[in-house]
Amino acid sequence: MKDLPAQPRDLDGNPVTPGLPMAMLAEITHRCPLACPYCSNPVELTRSQAELPAEDWARVFREAADLGVLQVHISGGEPGARRDLAQIVESASAAGLYVNLITSGIGITRQRLEELDRKGVDHVQLSLQGIRPDMADRISGHPGSWDKKMGFAGWVTEIGFPLTINAVVHRQNMERLPDMIELAETLGARRIEVATVQFHGWADLNRKALMPTREQAVFARQVVNEARIRLRGRMVIDYVPADHHAVYPKACMGGWGSTGLNVAPDGSVLPCHAAGSIGWMRFENIRDRSLSDIWHLSEAFNAFRGTDWMAEPCRSCERKNMDFGGCRCQAMAIAGDARATDPVCSKSPLHAQVIARAEEDAGADMAELIYRRMKKGG
Ligand code: SF4
Ligand code: FES
Repeated sequence: MKDLPAQPRDLDGNPVTPGLPMAMLAEITHRCPLACPYCSNPVELTRSQAELPAEDWARVFREAADLGVLQVHISGGEPGARRDLAQIVESASAAGLYVNLITSGIGITRQRLEELDRKGVDHVQLSLQGIRPDMADRISGHPGSWDKKMGFAGWVTEIGFPLTINAVVHRQNMERLPDMIELAETLGARRIEVATVQFHGWADLNRKALMPTREQAVFARQVVNEARIRLRGRMVIDYVPADHHAVYPKACMGGWGSTGLNVAPDGSVLPCHAAGSIGWMRFENIRDRSLSDIWHLSEAFNAFRGTDWMAEPCRSCERKNMDFGGCRCQAMAIAGDARATDPVCSKSPLHAQVIARAEEDAGADMAELIYRRMKKGG
């Protein structure tokens, strides 16, 4: 392991005390009936035998609530792939957490959804892969997914859950963003999360099929800006822009180890969903240590807190407390150094190279999709 700081510090050498996390992503399984080529799960997926049992999740939720977490996003893979999902939800609710179920809508029957309502799900977030059956089924790699999702969305609103639609946008569907927003309205969503594909893991294998063009990125921003005005007071639009075409990077995770944490299916605790791509970083497991200790004391969480870890140009940049140097996983993927300035930043020495590669990928012949698959025996 690299020499990670025992205590994060600012540029004057003063110790930095971590804040408290508000949200936790609980990835209870990597199993999923869909095969989206931009899946945010790692390329090496956790098998079912290694998944944390429901009793351990109950302890994690209690510890999370004690630590200050207010909401848990129960996700996967597809959380419905776990037969004990209702038990897991019940324990999260009993811990006092606001429970958001993030689902593909495939494999959860109406009866099961009603049970999840009784057990404490407060909010449902449904992913959509397209605005028509052909696109949705092709991108998800699951024939019939569209019909199932539309049925599921109807149950969500009939039962009375608040609904968020999650729409991942990319080269193959960005032009249809206005229709996607309209569909979310029709489905009764209170919120839509429009997220441009983030090129980690599976998505990085699909750059030549999914990288949007600069024109598409500009179009998407314009659509979002106009829709935000039109839908004010009716539907919230959260937007993750195409940062490969941006001037400055996003403040990934709102800053490393500052407001959120992820617990992976096997109990590893990560500062973000892609942190496993930082090969030299070691993650502690909830089976071995309390969540509070991992949050406050682990080397992984302290690695990029404060500002003393930063290299130039971030170190002397006036934006360092706004975007925190961008995304550590993107720095790792592109610069080969997780401490480097996020290469999508225009001040990074690698910026021109990043833009050239993004434009090359976006202009390439459309590549075949590489679908997410668990290796045999998963
Ligand atoms: Fe952000 Fe670093 Fe770029 Fe400044 S140099 S804008 S801190 S990523
Ligand atoms: Fe890991 Fe951005 S995805 S820090």
